[in-house]
Amino acid sequence: MRPMPESIATIIGSSRQLLPASDSARIDCELLLCLCLGKNRAQLIAQDDEKLTSKQSKQFCSLLKRRQEGEPIAYILGYQEFWGHNFLVDKHTLIPRPDTELLIDIILDRFDHKPRTIMDLGTGSGALAVTLKQTRCDWHVLATDLSATSLNMAQQNTPADTSIMFLQANWLDCIDNACIDLVVANPPYIASNDPALANLRFEPRNALVSADNGLRDLSKIIGQAEQVLTIDGCLLLEHGYTQQPEVERLMKTAGFRTEKFNDLSGQPRAMIGYRK
Ligand SMILES: C[S@@+](CC[C@H](N)C(=O)[O-])C[C@H]1O[C@@H](n2cnc3c(N)ncnc32)[C@H](O)[C@@H]1O
Repeated sequence: MRPMPESIATIIGSSRQLLPASDSARIDCELLLCLCLGKNRAQLIAQDDEKLTSKQSKQFCSLLKRRQEGEPIAYILGYQEFWGHNFLVDKHTLIPRPDTELLIDIILDRFDHKPRTIMDLGTGSGALAVTLKQTRCDWHVLATDLSATSLNMAQQNTPADTSIMFLQANWLDCIDNACIDLVVANPPYIASNDPALANLRFEPRNALVSADNGLRDLSKIIGQAEQVLTIDGCLLLEHGYTQQPEVERLMKTAGFRTEKFNDLSGQPRAMIGYRK
């Protein structure tokens, strides 16, 4: 598209042609227009005969180009919605996925408001830690990451009235006694030769890829968890859809009783290990 003033309706009507490779072309175009015009989606649709100024048009074209080159819409907008809230993201932070909301569902279904100490390992944008602290206010929530830039982003995503302790740490190396009731983690679990990485090239590799066919970080966390969990504590892990048998084997070897879960598309995606 050339930067010539067109109406909102014309641009939305051509979204398929503008973003042929996107499976969310219309919504992507709408969100980019919202950003350039300073409108929300309801205003955009209600005022769709409005023409873009040439400055707005230029900005739209440059954002559109980034999207055409495959950059995720969340990085262009600077945020991603998770559990009904917008979390700031940038190229140093993994974009939280709808599938990871499964971990929140599992936790809220099983654990009431009773005060507990929980840890979100590899917090990234802070999506899990912030959502859990906001839905279970009496919980003591610790969030860790090896990446200082991710921790910084997670802190920015934490509202002033929400208290979370952030620590820069390598998985559970920072805890030396059995004081945690629940450990939750969505660690890197993609094998370094997985062709799916081609579509994830904008996201930080250290948030995605794990050695040993994607299992090294899962295995390290499972091996450490038993030492830090209280007697009736448990470990909840997200994993790759082919990894469930191996994750179950690792959990059972570490002495956990297991429960398995599928994601939104019915693929094996998460497992809880109960200490008792
Ligand atoms: C798949 S991302 C998950 C981010 C976030 N929890 C989410 O679900 O959207 C994995 C996170 O683990 C962090 N990480 C990688 N290796 C780590 C390690 N050895 N110790 C702690 N965090 C690590 C990465 O920086 C990244 O933020």
